[in-house]
Amino acid sequence: MPDPAPQPSRVPAHVGIIMDGNGRWAEARGLPRLEGHRRGAERLIEVVDAAIDHGVRCLTLYAFSAENWRRPAEEVGGLFKLGEWVLRLHLSRLSKRRVRFRTIGDLTAMPEFIRIPIEEAVASSRDNTGFDLVIALNYGSRQEVTRAARSLAADAAAGRLDPAALDWETLASRLETAGLPDPDLIIRTSGECRLSNFLLLQAAYAEIVITPTYWPDFGAEAFAAALREFAGRERRFGMTGVQVRPTKPAP
Ligand code: FPP
Repeated sequence: MPDPAPQPSRVPAHVGIIMDGNGRWAEARGLPRLEGHRRGAERLIEVVDAAIDHGVRCLTLYAFSAENWRRPAEEVGGLFKLGEWVLRLHLSRLSKRRVRFRTIGDLTAMPEFIRIPIEEAVASSRDNTGFDLVIALNYGSRQEVTRAARSLAADAAAGRLDPAALDWETLASRLETAGLPDPDLIIRTSGECRLSNFLLLQAAYAEIVITPTYWPDFGAEAFAAALREFAGRERRFGMTGVQVRPTKPAP
């Protein structure tokens, strides 16, 4: 019998996931890497449903990094086809669950067969208010910050922005995550202990949960376990005691 879900007040508002280990999952079974990605794409939907069921408000999935273009063209093309397949299969059900789609990353380089359905999903779900599903595609945090810095510099050069008045809120408003809460929890599968250029500024105070499970084996129960680990952490935000962990009753 699975453990009970965490208390609603200790559920992270925003969870980011670095989905890793598809290739190793497939290689361990003597399967092609794309088979690991296919199984991973199915898991993605299971985890989205679990996040909604647990009361998480926003989930950001690192689906394709700006560095992933270095992979063989066949793998890159296969990943995009899987992305399009999984979106087509689940779009209407997720819309019924009031999911609002959003993307971060530079979509202009994506092939049309995936870019257009994603842009349509973003447009058609704009008024949904239940849950934000953010897909990071051709995303890299340094590239995102560079784009933001460029737009701020252009405003400063045109006299629309006083450089001395530039603060974090203004910079954050130019990031692609503008309007979303900062992630409270970042999960990385497959045991790697890196952020790999994912939401580097937004994750400044995020709790990080690393699980050895490869992404194709990471389902609803593993997600619930990560939420439980989060609920047991003490978050300080640089202070002495903003607590997530329940305080012991007085003796
Ligand atoms: C990491 O495994 C996973 C990815 C690079 C892709 C994750 C994407 C999906 C699950 C499908 C949805 C796709 C899109 C584009 C929307 P890895 O290949 O790095 O695993 P390894 O480190 O074991 O080799």
